[in-house]
Amino acid sequence: MMYSVVIPAAGQGKRMKLNKNKQFLILEEKPVIIHTLAVFQRDSWCEEIIIVANSSEVEQIKELISTYGITKVNKIVPGGNERQNSVYNGLKAIEKAEIVLIHDGARPFVTEELIHKLVVEAENKDAAILAVPIKDTVKESDGTKVLHTVDRSMLWSAQTPQAFKSEIILQAHEWADKNQFIGTDDASLLEQLQKGVSIVLGDYFNIKLTTPEDIVFAQSIMEVKRGGNE
Ligand code: CTP
Ligand code: MG
Repeated sequence: MMYSVVIPAAGQGKRMKLNKNKQFLILEEKPVIIHTLAVFQRDSWCEEIIIVANSSEVEQIKELISTYGITKVNKIVPGGNERQNSVYNGLKAIEKAEIVLIHDGARPFVTEELIHKLVVEAENKDAAILAVPIKDTVKESDGTKVLHTVDRSMLWSAQTPQAFKSEIILQAHEWADKNQFIGTDDASLLEQLQKGVSIVLGDYFNIKLTTPEDIVFAQSIMEVKRGGNE
């Protein structure tokens, strides 16, 4: 079951406070973006990779993919102001694919097993996301005091990849672009159009590197995974 993947990597990484795009942070001798790309390079179901990058970083990415033997990258396209604009640019660059995955460049621990579960679900249901049940007790607040405790039993943290039939996600992005709707993930655009999105159980290890603490978590996850492979 073949798919194309769009990898948005055109952010600034402001919350990481590195003064550079977190895609280039080195973890176990390789940049984060290379760890991410390597998963799709290895996966035989992945036919094509589209990277979305800041124009000023395209050359750097080209050098890295050549150094690390990432051969499935078909195009590197420019990013937009918001993640959603970047993803839309990536989707427009796909030539032909029945199934499209969208996966954050800053989420290096996704596994082939999770990807395959997700792709099968998208084949059957048109749209599927990885998500994990929320672990914290969640409070709604006005900023100073608690208004109430939210019932956690129905709450999930969304992850990427998110997988879609290609024409459906492209239509949703076209609609969002026309109507200036910005969602925090790609599935939310389908939700706006009342289209169903299936949940596939993700993995708590599938973190996105967002704030400085995540670097510590990422290093530990690397150690665990390395241990498991020896
Ligand atoms: N991204 C993108 N284009 C943007 C914004 C984000 O391609 N205009 C990408 C990021 O590079 C990242 C993914 O989308 O791989 C998830 O976004 P996020 O974690 O928010 O990354 P940044 O926007 O870089 O970080 P921050 O919000 O802290 O600045
Ligand atoms: Mg961001």
